[in-house]
Amino acid sequence: MGFYGDHFAEKVAIVTGAGGGIGQAYAEALAREGAAVVVADINVEGAQKVADGIKGEGGTALAVRV
Ligand SMILES: NC(=O)c1ccc[n+]([C@@H]2O[C@H](COP(=O)([O-])OP(=O)(O)OC[C@H]3O[C@@H](n4cnc5c(N)ncnc54)[C@H](O)[C@@H]3O)[C@@H](O)[C@H]2O)c1
Repeated sequence: MGFYGDHFAEKVAIVTGAGGGIGQAYAEALAREGAAVVVADINVEGAQKVADGIKGEGGTALAVRV
């Protein structure tokens, strides 16, 4: 991944269906632009993987089952 922007610094983004597919891509892109991302998904294991990936690259993320 790699973080390169601050367009969403000080913002929180809540992305539903972020445990995979398009939602994951949005969650990671928002994180790269400085957002703290709530990775919300019915599949909490998928959400946790995505959140861990973001955090592993220095971003801020929280996995939540919805
Ligand atoms: N992939 C494409 O090219 C494409 C194109 C146009 C439209 N779409 C539509 O966009 C949506 C997402 O596509 P995708 O390819 O990312 O799908 P996907 O199946 O890869 O990802 C969907 C994610 O949503 C989660 N999810 C499913 N039901 C949920 C619920 N009730 N609450 C929370 N999370 C839930 C799944 O666990 C999964 O992580 C779909 O509706 C799809 O039909 C996809």
